[in-house]
Amino acid sequence: MIRVRVEASTHGVACEGEVDGGRLLDFADEHRAAISFSCRGGTCGTCRVRVLEGGALLAPRSERESETLAVVGDGPDVRLACVARVTRGVSGTLRIVALD
Ligand code: FES
Repeated sequence: MIRVRVEASTHGVACEGEVDGGRLLDFADEHRAAISFSCRGGTCGTCRVRVLEGGALLAPRSERESETLAVVGDGPDVRLACVARVTRGVSGTLRIVALD
């Protein structure tokens, strides 16, 4: 089980909870943390989040996520919450903040 904390951003709300797999944006939705989104498919870049801790707990970037971040990314610690998946069967702490 991974402990996920979404830090408050300029207009976002912090939340914290546990998860075993799944997409970051789904976790944020379920916990009422505001991460902006549009396409929910990894192509628009709206849902960019910076990983503050625990990036190794996420599955590696897909080709689509890498392609989008090559255009709209803001460093190697940025992921797209709509497609970034938390790894199942591991434990640790993951902290993210929305780049909105
Ligand atoms: S919502 Fe468009 S890339 Fe995530």
